[in-house]
Amino acid sequence: MNRRILTGGALALTAGLALAGCSDASADKASDKPELPELKVAGAFIPEPAMDTMASGFFTVTNKGGADKLTSVTSALAEKVTLHSTKGNAMKEQKSFAVPANGELDFARGGNHLMFEELKHKPKQGDKVAVTLHFEKSDPIEIEVPVKAATYNPKPGKHTSH
Ligand code: CU
Repeated sequence: MNRRILTGGALALTAGLALAGCSDASADKASDKPELPELKVAGAFIPEPAMDTMASGFFTVTNKGGADKLTSVTSALAEKVTLHSTKGNAMKEQKSFAVPANGELDFARGGNHLMFEELKHKPKQGDKVAVTLHFEKSDPIEIEVPVKAATYNPKPGKHTSH
């Protein structure tokens, strides 16, 4: 009898410690999830821009692992690359975009997009632009983004389904 009470007490203590450890871990985002992200980038394109100063860019990041975050984008094409979301007709600059665990982050016309600002030259259809995606956990991913016709849109209408 006494022994059983002791065992129960010890278990409760262990559980309490585990819980405390857990809430510490979630305060520190880096150790949130032990599973590593496994990212792949596909379907990238830049529509040939109408302006000399600015271009947009699209791509899809698929993730077969734990959650990650797209934190910035750099390119030799532009002084600055910003991340934008679109709500209705208004676009809003974002600091980062979540790449959900076992999910995807989609950039598509009418939705999320990159803005290449202060272009060093105006990209033309057929060009390839080197772009580097930087993530919170994963190593940076370098991609060659083809410049397509101004009206190119591989996924008209909707964006998530395959
Ligand atoms: Cu924008």
